[in-house]
Amino acid sequence: MNRARNTVRLTEVPQPVTDEREEILAGLRDRPKHVSPKFFYDERGSQLFEEICEQPEYYPTRTELDIMEDNLDEMANLLGTAVSLIEYGSGSSTKTRLLLDQLQDPAAYVPVDISKEHLASTAEQLAADYPDLEVLPVCTDFTKPFPLPVPSRAGARNVVYFPGSTIGNFNIDEAVGLMKVMRGEAGDRGGLLIGVDLVKARDVLERAYNDAAGVTAEFNLNLLCRLNREHDADFELENFRHEAIYDEQHQCIEMRLIAQDEQTVQVGNESFEFEEGEALVTEHSHKFTVDQFAELAARAGFELRKVWTDDAELFSVQYLDAA
Ligand code: AVJ
Repeated sequence: MNRARNTVRLTEVPQPVTDEREEILAGLRDRPKHVSPKFFYDERGSQLFEEICEQPEYYPTRTELDIMEDNLDEMANLLGTAVSLIEYGSGSSTKTRLLLDQLQDPAAYVPVDISKEHLASTAEQLAADYPDLEVLPVCTDFTKPFPLPVPSRAGARNVVYFPGSTIGNFNIDEAVGLMKVMRGEAGDRGGLLIGVDLVKARDVLERAYNDAAGVTAEFNLNLLCRLNREHDADFELENFRHEAIYDEQHQCIEMRLIAQDEQTVQVGNESFEFEEGEALVTEHSHKFTVDQFAELAARAGFELRKVWTDDAELFSVQYLDAA
């Protein structure tokens, strides 16, 4: 059969650059100073993140992939036939492909990501490799509610896929808020398939965010390059040092950039003083127990159906139904 090329229709929800600037400035005025981790992912940042995933110390990606591979049958059965898969943060798509290969006749794939180049190229590649799958990428900041594109063939149900434990980037109330939005998109018959990083020994965690090759440090510092380029800032990269520390009380890794000297940095038309040793907080990565996460999900209207983990219980993949 001579089939037409599977074309991709990308929807862009424009993010006003002034809002971004204002969000960054507000974080720099705050104490401690902070910048949202969503700003890591420019083209170079997305590339560096993929490199982090290949570092021997960074267990999450590898472990999640193993968990997926070992349990794909069961996952596909729980998701059911003719599902519309909505993926938050479209990543490198390795895990998505595993899932798509196993799903019975998926109706649509809707990847949602803030990085347009990255999103467009992974969506194009997927469409080419899955000619019967409708691919409807949405370029937006998924921390804000956005309209879902309507597929030409209505799926049996919507399942939100949120791999990588990116949920850990949010504080608890924000995570509940985001999962409520996902619950709305899943609808009453839908579900959520999510990667959740688990609480574990400090040394394993700190090694994962301080890899010996220095890729995480470069990823962290790249944020300053981006602010310089896109937000009229003048950070001197040599003046900042990467640090990642596990806060046991809050069960989260905190990534920071530490000012090496007292200095003044200009961002747009505002200037910011850094003391020697002062931290700019760039990321929180929360870790959960299975019970803690079930409780959080319940607050968003999801009911835990199934948890898969690796033997060492480093990481989990969980399937939740709309409650
Ligand atoms: C993409 C948020 C899951 O928290 O492990 C990796 C990002 N930062 N190394 C994580 C990250 C530093 C990652 N998430």
